[in-house]
Amino acid sequence: MSAALLVEGLVKRFATGKPAVDGVDFEVPAGEIVVLLGPSGCGKTTTLRCVAGLEHPTGGRISIGERVVSEPERGLLVSPRERDIGMVFQSYAVWPHMTVRQNVAYPLKHRRNGGGDINAKVNDTLELVGLRDYAERPVTSLSGGQMQRVALARSLVYRPQLLLLDEPLSNLDAKLRLRLRDELRRILKQTGMTGLYVTHDQAEAVVLGDRIGVMREGKLLQMAAPDEIYNRPADPFVANFTGAANVLLGKVLARSGERATIDLGAAGRIEAWTPQALNPGDKARVALRAENVRLGERGPANVFAGRVLERRYQGMQTVYNVEMGGQKLEALELGTAARHGADSEIAITLPPDTCWAYRDEGAASVE
Ligand SMILES: Nc1ncnc2c1ncn2[C@@H]1O[C@H](COP(=O)(O)OP(=O)(O)OP(=O)(O)O)[C@@H](O)[C@H]1O
Ligand SMILES: [Mg+2]
Repeated sequence: MSAALLVEGLVKRFATGKPAVDGVDFEVPAGEIVVLLGPSGCGKTTTLRCVAGLEHPTGGRISIGERVVSEPERGLLVSPRERDIGMVFQSYAVWPHMTVRQNVAYPLKHRRNGGGDINAKVNDTLELVGLRDYAERPVTSLSGGQMQRVALARSLVYRPQLLLLDEPLSNLDAKLRLRLRDELRRILKQTGMTGLYVTHDQAEAVVLGDRIGVMREGKLLQMAAPDEIYNRPADPFVANFTGAANVLLGKVLARSGERATIDLGAAGRIEAWTPQALNPGDKARVALRAENVRLGERGPANVFAGRVLERRYQGMQTVYNVEMGGQKLEALELGTAARHGADSEIAITLPPDTCWAYRDEGAASVE
C-alpha cells in the first residue's frame, strides 16, 4: 500500500558549515510524485536520506503513513529496514553475479512478507519495466539504461509504501535519459506508488512531478504543480532556476494586489505580476523567459521600442539579443524562419502575465 509522506520542520546539521537542510516542510499525498529540484549542494540528497533513515535528522518530524519515523526532540528514530521504503540511486545498485530475474527476486526472498508467488511477482515487475525478455540474462550483459530498470524493478517488486529516487537517470546518455524519463512516470503512475524524486534537471522535474519543490541552500522556496512553478514563480531564484533568465531592472511605481507597475527608466513602464507586497519606490527586478518575448508585435499592453543587436539562427529556432532603453533581453522564436534582421528597429511586446516583479535584493541568479 502506498503511504503519504509528511516532512515537518526538517533540519539536518553536519559537524561543520551551515545546515544542509534548514527547516523544510512538505507533504507527498499517497500515490503522488513530488520532485525536489535545485542546484548542487542545496540539500536534496540529505533530505531524501533523512526520509530513508540513512541520515539522522537534527530536528523536525518525518511521518510515513500514520507512523512517525523520526523526531529527534522525542528521541524517536525508526531504522531504515523498518520504514518499508524502496530506493533507486544514480549508480546502478545491482548484484553483478546474478541474472536479471535473480536480482529482482532477491528482495522478495529476503523479506518476511516477500512470500507468495515470487515468480509471478518478478514476471509482472519485469513486464512493467520492459525487461520481460531479459529475465535470464546475466545483469552485467545489460546496457546502463537496462541496469537502471533492473534497479527500479528491484525496488518496486515488493511494493514498498514509498519510493525514493535520487537522480536515477543522470548516468545515462542524453537520448536514453529522455526515454526512461517518460517511461518512469508511466511506471510509477501504473503502480500507484508514492514517490519522492530528487534531481537538478528542471526538464526531468516537469515531466515526472505531480508537484515540484524548488530548494536552495537547505530551504524549500516553493512547492507547487509544474505549470505553477513555470508560470507563477514565488521567488526570483525559482524563476531563474527554471529558465527565466531575462531580468529588467527598475523601480516600483504602484502595486494593486498581484499587479505592479514598474518604471524601467529609458525603456518606459512595464506592467507585471508579483507574488510580493511591493511598495512604491522599492527597487525591483522583472524576470521573464526568452520564449515569452514577442518580437515585431504590438500587443494590448507592455509594448516597447527596441532594436535587434544580434541574431543566432539555430534551425528549429532563432535566438535574438535585443535592447530596449539600454536594457538587454534575450528572445527565442520557434520555427525555421529567422524573421528579424540584426540592427533592425523592432516593436517588442512583453505580455504582463509573463513578466514577474520581485524586490531587488541583489544576487538572485544561478551561477
Ligand atoms: N556527510 C556529510 N558531511 C558533511 N557535510 C555534508 C555531508 N553530506 C552532505 N553534506 C553537505 O550538505 C550540503 C547538502 O548536500 P546534499 O548532498 O544534500 O546536496 P544535493 O542537493 O543532493 O546536491 P547534488 O545535486 O550535488 O547531489 C552540502 O553542502 C554538502 O557538502
Ligand atoms: Mg545529491
